Amino acid sequence: MTRTIVMTGATTGIGAAALAHWPAPATRLIVGARKGHVAGAETLPLDLASLTSVRGFADGVIAALGGARIDALVLNAGGQRPDTDARSVDGHELTFATNHLAHYLLLRLLLPQLAPGARIVITSSGTHDPAERTGVPPPRHADARRLADPAGDPTRDANAITAGMRAYSASKLCNLMTALTLAETPDAASNAWIVTAYDPGLTPGTGLARSQMWPVRALIWPLLPLLQPFRPGMNSLAAAGRGLADLATDARPPAGRVYASLRKGVLTWPDPSVLAQDAAARAQLWADSARLTGLA
Ligand SMILES: NC(=O)c1ccc[n+]([C@@H]2O[C@H](COP(=O)([O-])OP(=O)(O)OC[C@H]3O[C@@H](n4cnc5c(N)ncnc54)[C@H](OP(=O)(O)O)[C@@H]3O)[C@@H](O)[C@H]2O)c1
Repeated sequence: MTRTIVMTGATTGIGAAALAHWPAPATRLIVGARKGHVAGAETLPLDLASLTSVRGFADGVIAALGGARIDALVLNAGGQRPDTDARSVDGHELTFATNHLAHYLLLRLLLPQLAPGARIVITSSGTHDPAERTGVPPPRHADARRLADPAGDPTRDANAITAGMRAYSASKLCNLMTALTLAETPDAASNAWIVTAYDPGLTPGTGLARSQMWPVRALIWPLLPLLQPFRPGMNSLAAAGRGLADLATDARPPAGRVYASLRKGVLTWPDPSVLAQDAAARAQLWADSARLTGLA
C-alpha cells in the first residue's frame, strides 16, 4: 500500500537527507517548495513567508490528494536570520512567521486530511531549552504577539544578532509547544495520531546558516563537522535525515512522549524545557497563532 507524506523543507539539508528513506512507489511524496522541483516528489509552490501562499499550498495538497489521506505530515522547513528586521508578506517578524506561524496555519488546514494513525513531525531544536546550553540565546517567552512584532516587546535584545538568534530559538520553542498542544487534543486521541517535535541536534552541512554574517557562514559553520567526535549533541547530516525519516514512518515514541532529540545518531526522549511544559502558555500560543493567521 502506498504511504502519502506531505512535507516542507525538503529541498536541502536535513529534509533532503530524509528523502532517500522514502522510496517510490511505496511512498507518495508531496512537497512544498519556494523554488525548483524536488526529484521523486510532486512539488507544489510554497513560500512560508506568505500566509496566502500557505493557504494556496494547502488547497493544492487537498486537490492532489483527490480524497486520499495523509499518512505523515512533516513540517521541517526553517531559517535563521542575523536580526529581527525583516517582515513576512503579512507584516510579522520573518523568522517567527516562517518557522512557526506558517507551519501552524498549514497544520490546522491539513488536519482534516490526516489518516487515522497518521504521524505529524514538527522540526524543533534543542535551542528552545536554556538547560541545553547550546550557545544560541534561549527564548524568554512564547508570546506570539510580541514575537510577531518585536518592537512591542519590552524584553527585546538591543543587539541585532542576539535578537535574531533568540527569535530563532523562540520560533523553535513555538514549534515544540504546537506539537505538545496538538498531541493533547481530542482529535489526536480519537484518531491515534502520533505527534512528535524533532530536535536533530546541531547538524552542520545544511543551509541553515546561509543568512548569517559571513564569519559564521564561511568559517564557523563549515568547520563545525571537525568537532563532531567531541560533541554528543552534534549529528551528521545523514543521521539527522535518518532520524527525521524514522519519526515520520517507524519510530515508536514511549507513551506520552512528544519531544524527540537525536543524540549520537540515536533518538532520545528528554523532557521539553520548563517553558514548553507551561500549559497556560501553550494554550495562549495556540489561540494567538490562530488569530495571527486569520483562523479565529
Ligand atoms: N542544522 C541544524 O543544526 C539544526 C539544528 C536544530 C534544528 N534544525 C532545524 O532543522 C530544519 C531544517 O534545517 P536545515 O538545517 O536542514 O537547514 P536548510 O538546509 O537551510 O533547510 C531549510 C529548508 O527550509 C526551507 N525553507 C526556508 N525558508 C522557506 C520559505 N520561506 N518557504 C519555503 N521553504 C523554506 C528551505 O528551502 P529553500 O531551498 O527554498 O531555501 C530548505 O528546504 C529547520 O527547521 C531547522 O530549524 C536544524
